Amino acid sequence: MSRYLIVVSVLVLLAACSDAPESPVPVVDADSPARPVYDEEAIKQQAAQALLPFKQQLMQALQRGLEQGPAQAIDVCRLQAPAIAAAASVDGVTIGRTSFRLRNPGNAPSVWQQVGLRHYQQSEDREPMLIDLENGQMGYMEPIVTAPMCLACHGSELSVEVKDALAKHYPADQATGFAAGDLRGIFWVSLPVTDQVVPSP
Ligand code: HEC
Repeated sequence: MSRYLIVVSVLVLLAACSDAPESPVPVVDADSPARPVYDEEAIKQQAAQALLPFKQQLMQALQRGLEQGPAQAIDVCRLQAPAIAAAASVDGVTIGRTSFRLRNPGNAPSVWQQVGLRHYQQSEDREPMLIDLENGQMGYMEPIVTAPMCLACHGSELSVEVKDALAKHYPADQATGFAAGDLRGIFWVSLPVTDQVVPSP
């Protein structure tokens, strides 16, 4: 019997005895070392929560920068985006942004992030997703969709000022030519999940 089937049948058995006492023992895979099942919804919420200040601060920095014009805003984004991501990464939680068409090569996707990027590129799914990194960490990703305000720096028609600033700081820039509504990339979070074992149903 495949591992998948065994896990499913254990779940079915557990669901069948509805008055079984709640137990903190994780549902485990029958023929491989104990493998906990996580409360995916709770982890997604925790990750989304960790992303909130990052998103808000990025957006504020961008808006403040844009008030001075897109070329100045590039400086704000260039200098502040990595710093904001680093500051928001605490308690073993790391966060960031990445894309299949990068502006900053420092944002290059890891292997699990490439899996997420491919998923969103190949489907219409725009819901957050989780990947078990199998090292006590979960990887969380949510798609970033291009909004009209992004086009000044990521669209097809860039001002000369913006083009110059991008050429200066990002000579290998691939992150232009997007249209509103296009997938631009993802936000990602990796978070420790050691204490997130779900009690049996
Ligand atoms: C003022 C110009 C500007 C605007 C407007 C702008 N960006 Fe960017 N964007 C940048 C710069 C500069 C970087 C590289 C900063 C860094 O190191 O993360 C960047 C990087 C990114 C990245 C990280 C991946 C990569 O390519 O390095 C994503 C994702 C992204 N932008 C999405 C957006 C979205 C979505 C919007 C609209 C809400 C937006 N940007 C608006 C200038 C801009």
